[in-house]
Amino acid sequence: MRKVIIDTDTASDDAVALIMAFMEKDFDILAVTVVAGNVPLDMAVQNALYTRELCDADHIPVYTGLAKPILRELETAQNVHGCDGLGDIGLPLKGRSPAEGHAVDTLIQLINQNPGEIELITLGPLSNIAVALLRDPSIARKVKHCTMMGGSGNHIGNVSPLAEFNIWADPEAAKVVFDSSMPITMVGIDANVRSAFFDQQDIDTILALGTAKAQFAINIQGTLNKYIQGLYNFNGFDLPDPLTMAVAIDPSCCKTEACAVHVIIGDGLGRGMTIIDKIGYYGEKNPVDVAIDVDRKRFLEILYKALS
Ligand code: RIB
Ligand code: CA
Repeated sequence: MRKVIIDTDTASDDAVALIMAFMEKDFDILAVTVVAGNVPLDMAVQNALYTRELCDADHIPVYTGLAKPILRELETAQNVHGCDGLGDIGLPLKGRSPAEGHAVDTLIQLINQNPGEIELITLGPLSNIAVALLRDPSIARKVKHCTMMGGSGNHIGNVSPLAEFNIWADPEAAKVVFDSSMPITMVGIDANVRSAFFDQQDIDTILALGTAKAQFAINIQGTLNKYIQGLYNFNGFDLPDPLTMAVAIDPSCCKTEACAVHVIIGDGLGRGMTIIDKIGYYGEKNPVDVAIDVDRKRFLEILYKALS
């Protein structure tokens, strides 16, 4: 079994990625840790708990983490995923209880108790991971691998012309993580644009699976669909977190290139940009495996199996 921790800011694409993880038979998910990002923290926690219940995975503990970025106010993406993060379709998303204890304490404890064994999958801003690293830098080397949805391998962003949301939301936290020498596979928004867009035909294929999970996976994407239509003039939506989860489940589906990644912090035009340095221009730095191509066929195979 593969020991896994998933860190998420649970909105409509995160929820589908969580279903993929909860249904992955080789995953022993030690914890889901929640961070503010797409939606305020409490909503992200409730969304994770709701998704867990949908998958009969109540044995997996869900921990509450940071309610805001480490050095700035929270700026959510509720305009993208809905006020409740799951498309505002009236789901009963209140009243479920997370595990006792803080997400950051849990990350530090579990990684120290399982050195070299834990695969970390991050689907949101990196606030929890950064604080864990600031408190115990040794965990960078004790994590077996980190598969991250974040950044952009071609410098084209989604929340700004240059930055992807998870990095933009808390760029200072992202800098801590990228500078920590943790082994990272970075699945950027560019990989998502290449491999993770769903049109009406794809949507119909998923609905034809005929399960409650498949119905849920589509029903919660309404706000995202509208946003994507406006941003890319595309009638459908993208699922960056599920793409990243597929890479975590089966790394062989992802071609990567080792590059140094530098994060721009602060509030300038470049806020949250991930500079991909393949020639050591900015000096020596631990390389990150940057996704340059994800096999869409394999991604869909993993996704459809989880939703079936
Ligand atoms: O930019 C896409 C990322 O930001 C995804 O993880 C999405 O859920 C949001 O968190
Ligand atoms: Ca996310």
